Amino acid sequence: MNALPARIACVGLPGSGKSTIGRQLARRLDVKFIDSDLVIEQRIGCSIREFFEREGESAFRDLEEAVVDELTLDGACVLSTGGGTILRPANREHLRQRTQAIYLHSAPEDVFRRLRNDQNRPLLQVSDPLARLKELYGVRDPLYRETSHFVIETGRPSVSTLVNMILMQL
Ligand code: S3P
Repeated sequence: MNALPARIACVGLPGSGKSTIGRQLARRLDVKFIDSDLVIEQRIGCSIREFFEREGESAFRDLEEAVVDELTLDGACVLSTGGGTILRPANREHLRQRTQAIYLHSAPEDVFRRLRNDQNRPLLQVSDPLARLKELYGVRDPLYRETSHFVIETGRPSVSTLVNMILMQL
């Protein structure tokens, strides 16, 4: 049997299933599950949305970079990253070199359907969230691909099917 990678990271747009899939994957591999957004929220003592509003995106990205640097050196785990983590070159490099990174690919229209009623995504609190998602996708899709070791299409399959697909590729 091949040795499984110690650290696995999920990257992709908000609403692509990083946390849901990552949690199930960690359970199947019997390793801990870490959500970098939750780690950040524990450190700042408020929601990311509040922090964004108060301190701005760049302060959030600085914090995110420090947390990702730390978590990608932690023990065996499945790490779910925030959708914008790949914007910083240092994060792309750390994810690529220190983890087996999986891009959970979703079309912006699918993400829009899933997140329509979610008030907790600061970047989507705009008058036309679908247009915003398409714009984010245009910028980020190449960066998710550059960072990841393989891509999983999240369109139709159930979460457990997606987890099985990932397990077959590891
Ligand atoms: C962000 C995505 C969020 C969170 C923050 C910024 C982004 O994480 O890190 O609101 O830039 O796409 P999710 O992808 O888990 O929603």
